[in-house]
Amino acid sequence: MKEIDWSSLGFGYVPTDYNVRCYYRDGKWGEIEVSSSESINIHMAATALHYGQEAFEGMKAFRGPDGKIRVFRGDENAARLQRTCRGILMPELPTEKFMEMTRKVIKMNERFVPPYESGASLYLRPLLIGTGAQIGVKPADEYLFVIFVMPVGPYFKGGFTTNNYVIIREYDRAAPLGTGTYKVGGNYAASFRAHSIAHEKGYACEFYLDAKEKKYIDEAGAANFFGIKNNTYITPKSTSILPSITNKSLQQIALDLGMKVECRPIDVEELATFEEAGACGTAAVISPIGTIDDLETGKSYKISKDGKAGPCSEKLYNRLRNIQYGIEPDTHGWITVIE
Ligand code: PLP
Ligand code: COI
Repeated sequence: MKEIDWSSLGFGYVPTDYNVRCYYRDGKWGEIEVSSSESINIHMAATALHYGQEAFEGMKAFRGPDGKIRVFRGDENAARLQRTCRGILMPELPTEKFMEMTRKVIKMNERFVPPYESGASLYLRPLLIGTGAQIGVKPADEYLFVIFVMPVGPYFKGGFTTNNYVIIREYDRAAPLGTGTYKVGGNYAASFRAHSIAHEKGYACEFYLDAKEKKYIDEAGAANFFGIKNNTYITPKSTSILPSITNKSLQQIALDLGMKVECRPIDVEELATFEEAGACGTAAVISPIGTIDDLETGKSYKISKDGKAGPCSEKLYNRLRNIQYGIEPDTHGWITVIE
């Protein structure tokens, strides 16, 4: 293996040794298979290709200072995938099978779990696709579930340092009663144009407002939003955003730290009142927000006054990371140690 420079890893595809697969045929899930191929062979009329019948997940495993490998809240990813399956009519993969495959794929790629000191982690990408041929618009009768893994560094530049974001009103990623709460590929395809505009203009990522009124903050292309003021963690309530497991965990940590938590619509104008804000997700962890510009109105909301993450964000970040790396106790049962 070519030596991996763990601490300079970004967020991107890296080939590893094995992936694990499971096929759904004749109305049931089959045995777990191990593969060393990076390819999948599917029918040209597969529903995943034509009608977007596919879903994915994102989760991480961490090597602690004690050398142990820990997965963070895999059962929540399994549950969210099952929710997505109900949303786009795919068969649900049982949590036990999801976790068995999770443990297996990590174990088999153990040498790719970055060392603690590097700050990097192993990203797991579970993927479920409709493989059955169908040309009428209807669900497939065959599916493939695969988990592959890769070592990754920070998703947003600099990791836990501030980045600037931009609200783009010209495009929506999801409709109020659409697929925004499911982790389906179509939501990401819908975000490409706004994302490329954000990038061209030098921003880390785009933010979407609610599609109906264009009044409330929804989320970023690949992360949820939170704001902090008066010792309160405030995060959007919306029918078109992904229920982020990181966000859910940060809400619990905020309560544990003696903060208050509010989950409610956030009027875009309220951005002017936040003392701190961040984008959060598995890939992003917490990406503290420096400024959010609203392209159409020309308003600029400067959130970090000194270009640094604020004290509450820092406490939340440290507690989350310490639980993930096994440094602080896992009081909520979020960790699965891979033995
Ligand atoms: N929102 C979107 C659109 C995402 O793609 C992600 C990433 O998974 C998140 C939010 C964060 O969710 P989680 O914390 O479960 O990774
Ligand atoms: C994640 O945070 O796991 C994501 O899925 C975000 C992005 C890489 C799609």
